[in-house]
Amino acid sequence: MQKRIVLCITGASGAIYGYRLLQVLTSMSFHIDLIVSSSGWLVIKEELEKTKQQILEEFPNINLVPDKDIANPVASGSRLIHYTGVIVAPCSMSTLGHVANGTNQNLIHRVCEVALKERVPLLLLLRESPYSMVHLENMLRVAKAGAVILPASPAFYHKPKNLQDLIDFVVGKALDSLRIEHHLYKRWKEDTLPT
Ligand SMILES: Cc1cc2nc3c(=O)[nH]c(=O)nc-3n(C[C@H](O)[C@H](O)[C@H](O)COP(=O)(O)O)c2cc1C
Repeated sequence: MQKRIVLCITGASGAIYGYRLLQVLTSMSFHIDLIVSSSGWLVIKEELEKTKQQILEEFPNINLVPDKDIANPVASGSRLIHYTGVIVAPCSMSTLGHVANGTNQNLIHRVCEVALKERVPLLLLLRESPYSMVHLENMLRVAKAGAVILPASPAFYHKPKNLQDLIDFVVGKALDSLRIEHHLYKRWKEDTLPT
């Protein structure tokens, strides 16, 4: 069976993380259900200078699901249990707040809620700086509920040479969380790992 994943892009800065995940997961032959919030499209336009049409042309095999389509089967528990996981990248503090408090305003919030209740891996790749106490408390709530909180903070021990290396480190950590094999960054003392 084809590996499946739900990728959500919200209106935090760092649309490039969602875009890179689209590239990498497509190259790994994942079936991708993509949900982008209205603010997510706005930030994609602002930061990547790409329209929805251009994204669809670049990734013709993805299943783009409107974030208002609350009845879409992708948010059904019986379907989601067959998925590798749900990734929200980047994840805004607004979406974090909705997930932490169970207040569904769109399909992204609902898919995250279903992932938590069905124990399907949920990864929130957060971007904000600095964090308020509200943000921190919401992070704690979702972490206690089973989500992985992954800050968009690259490391430097792998000696990045350019922006792509920094992006790939964060994206690689996201894939690590879902136990998806990749070679996006060089691990610490990688040559000493047992083969
Ligand atoms: C250019 C731009 C950058 C933004 N960056 C962030 C950010 O880094 N983190 C964040 O939490 N919100 C950020 N926002 C605000 C969110 O887009 C806003 O809170 C929105 O309501 C989030 O909705 P969503 O979670 O449904 O996408 C940004 C907005 C714009 C226009």
